[in-house]
Amino acid sequence: MGYTPWYKHAVFYELYLKGFYDSNGDGIGDVRGLIEKLDYLQELGIDCIWLPPIYPSPERDDGYDVADYYTIAPKYGTMQDFQELLKEVHKRDMKLIIDLVLNHTSDQHPWFQEAKKGPTSPYFHYYVWSKTPEKYKEARIIFLDTETSNWAYCEENGYYYWHRFYSHQPDLNYDNPEVRREMKKVLLYWLDMGVDGFRVDAVPYLFEREGTNCENLPETHEYLKELRAMVEKHYPEAILLAEANQWPQDLLPYFGNGDEFHMAFNFPLMPRLFMALKTRDVSPIVKIMEGLPEIPVQCQWCNFLRNHDELTLEMVTPEEREYMWKMYAPEKRMRLNLGIRRRLAPLLDNDQRKIRLLHSVLFTLPGTPILYYGDEIGMGDNIALPDRNGVRTPMQWNTSRNAGFSVAPPERLYAPVIEKGDFSYQKVNVEIASHDPSSLFSWIKGWIALRKRNPVFGMGKIEFFSGKDPALLWYRVYDGKEEVLVFAFFGDMEKEIVLDMRQWQGKTLIDIEGKKPTFSLNKETVVWKFSPYEYKVFLVK
Ligand code: GLC
Ligand code: CA
Repeated sequence: MGYTPWYKHAVFYELYLKGFYDSNGDGIGDVRGLIEKLDYLQELGIDCIWLPPIYPSPERDDGYDVADYYTIAPKYGTMQDFQELLKEVHKRDMKLIIDLVLNHTSDQHPWFQEAKKGPTSPYFHYYVWSKTPEKYKEARIIFLDTETSNWAYCEENGYYYWHRFYSHQPDLNYDNPEVRREMKKVLLYWLDMGVDGFRVDAVPYLFEREGTNCENLPETHEYLKELRAMVEKHYPEAILLAEANQWPQDLLPYFGNGDEFHMAFNFPLMPRLFMALKTRDVSPIVKIMEGLPEIPVQCQWCNFLRNHDELTLEMVTPEEREYMWKMYAPEKRMRLNLGIRRRLAPLLDNDQRKIRLLHSVLFTLPGTPILYYGDEIGMGDNIALPDRNGVRTPMQWNTSRNAGFSVAPPERLYAPVIEKGDFSYQKVNVEIASHDPSSLFSWIKGWIALRKRNPVFGMGKIEFFSGKDPALLWYRVYDGKEEVLVFAFFGDMEKEIVLDMRQWQGKTLIDIEGKKPTFSLNKETVVWKFSPYEYKVFLVK
């Protein structure tokens, strides 16, 4: 009773291991490098790190093409290093979750290499084969820019194999009980190793059924529930976080009755935050949030602004997508599949007001926020790099060579550091930011601390108020004890807005950041003055 699961009041942080810190000068970030930087994350206030895949892989999808589930790629270090990382993370009262790629393997995985030999191979049925590419026609293609079909032909055995992502990522066949067992073994292996859970990749696509779009099938949910039951039995503190890029009605079932995922990314919310900045109309945010029905009490949304992928526009209408592309990705090469391959700060014109406004919403909405490495210092991107690599460049630590990321000769870095323009590491780096009390870094650090002091953000409910002004998003977050009032103004011009405040008459509003004077609400209406992109957050007493 009264127990709050740890992930409810945590702040998450996603980082690309290869991009964080290189400890041995080979140009690639590694496990020991991360160990050296754990104090940095602790200082920022991070509770849980999510590492995208670090398994051995041919790296044709940056590690999401796994060739071996039972170890880490040698370039990242040894398993001893990894165990030490876990020890050091836990010593700091932090947690670490890793990516679990369930849906597919690399075509270089030994299972697929065997399966290619044909139906007599014991591994053939580990994958989904067909004599014709005609099956499952209703399944959409996800990597639209590179793939023309979800089937690829295997010269060696004369069959087609099924793949929802790149054609070098064959889908595993979950109708095969052996596959289901194998992947459970993988989970237990890493839990035994000490990881605190998994961000589970591409979960909607595990099973295929004719006549469906092959997403969110009951069979998929059933298997995911089995995984959860297993985790629950052996490691009740460990979590499963779903990557299910779906509409609310299809996303909710991933929480089950509290017996499937602990957490799921809030994909429907994210693009609407960016859209509202351009339209100066917050109603799509309110509509989508109000349309998210309640989730089981132990479950939690994971809210985010950006991550390692393109800013996905799958969960908006085609018209909205066109609008978003026009506003945020005017150049064709900024687009990828159904999204925009840019980082947060460049998307927001490096405008501190806009960056802080979106973060103020991220930090105050019920749910758990997750930050993407580098966004806390406002890092830029490099759209000259292909695919999503432009948002995965080396972390900028200081003004020394290679941004302090690595002592390797610059041409040996896995990707160039950003060294030109407003986002160059000479200007944007941790050292400068952490010594400047007015920096984005200091502000974010302050907000993380505020969240920790006010558990209402992780646990509370939300109520939206429809504004007098379309640009004003205002809501309260409350539990039995605390109440917080949030105003986020998406307008680009100063404005006075008269609001009916009867609900709070007689109450005192205390600026949560302690910057504005405290005041008592003794009138029925208040004339609020907003400057462009201003947020105001008050504790109600
Ligand atoms: C997920 C990952 C993405 C990857 C894809 C295929 O969407 O976030 O980076 O390419 O799965 O594994
Ligand atoms: Ca290295």
